[in-house]
Amino acid sequence: MAFPPILAPSLLAGDHAHLADSAKIAADVGTDWLHLDIMDGHFVPNFSFGPEVPAALRRAGSKQFFDTHLMLDEPQRYIEPFAKAGADSISIHIEPAYDHAATLARIRALGCQCGLVLNPGTPATAIESLLGQVDLVLVMTVQPGFGGQPFRRDMLPKLQQIDRWRREKNLKFRLEVDGGIDLTTAQECRSAGADTFVAGTSFFRAGDRQAYAAAIAGMA
Ligand code: DX5
Ligand code: ZN
Repeated sequence: MAFPPILAPSLLAGDHAHLADSAKIAADVGTDWLHLDIMDGHFVPNFSFGPEVPAALRRAGSKQFFDTHLMLDEPQRYIEPFAKAGADSISIHIEPAYDHAATLARIRALGCQCGLVLNPGTPATAIESLLGQVDLVLVMTVQPGFGGQPFRRDMLPKLQQIDRWRREKNLKFRLEVDGGIDLTTAQECRSAGADTFVAGTSFFRAGDRQAYAAAIAGMA
């Protein structure tokens, strides 16, 4: 495996009246990453929050790695606001029509890492030609829009395919999964090549979050 496993707790499942407290809960288990889900009510049928939330978390003292997942029809319009708000990584979906390569380059030019995201219905081939330009590939293991949905086991072959290309082409991007991740499904994704695990519901509802984080970090 190219990278040690990383847990990225999803703030969407935190307490939206106390997001800084939820971010701190994630930091306190010793994981550096925090996953921020940005939804526009168009690309997905739900809303979450805008760049003012990461900016406010930074002001509140968060030093976490902000793994920012843009679920937007026109992500190219919002790269700068999120970079300025403190995003460390910005991931954009491949499905909408815009200049993906130019947007990835813009993200990097602003000093952030960049990622590409695939919905469950999108084949791995949709991003194959862009793999050399990314720091991260995010394979959605639910249809995005809401937390708490069941894991799509039929996404495992897609992970295996992207992991195979990564090795064959000697590329260095992280392979992330998002949606329905718990300790069981994370292990299945790990075996299929994933190294970065977004967890909302299962993390925030875990009885012992420290043990949860340790179990992810300890996966073979
Ligand atoms: C889904 C979001 C996810 C979500 C995952 O649209 O992209 O990041 O927070 O939530 P769980 O872990 O509850 O499936
Ligand atoms: Zn997400």
